[in-house]
Amino acid sequence: MTYTITEPCIDVKDRSCVDECPVDCIYEGGRMLYIQPDECVDCAACEPVCPVTAIFAEDDVPAEWKEFTPINAEFFSEDIAGFTSPGGAAQVGPVDKDHPKVAAWESVA
Ligand code: F3S
Ligand code: F3S
Repeated sequence: MTYTITEPCIDVKDRSCVDECPVDCIYEGGRMLYIQPDECVDCAACEPVCPVTAIFAEDDVPAEWKEFTPINAEFFSEDIAGFTSPGGAAQVGPVDKDHPKVAAWESVA
């Protein structure tokens, strides 16, 4: 199980979630933030603070956004983010990269 960031974060990037995560496993990409599934400890602290309700427990991701669970996981690769499990987002900082599906996402907002 892990928590997943979904479509409403795209081009919003409120970042309130980052301050709540005790293990600093929420990483900033170009258009959205991504949760590192192996580092997430499923504490749920991030979920209620997102003002656009973008964060869900894996089992609770709405049907239309199910693809965001693999999108979050696949972001953490040498081919996309350029890293896999650095053990903390602060030391990495924002990267101007996104999962290909997010890069191509047509935001309705
Ligand atoms: Fe995105 Fe919500 Fe966090 S908009 S950056 S998931 S607080
Ligand atoms: Fe972090 Fe807990 Fe969310 S570990 S990503 S704040 S569920």
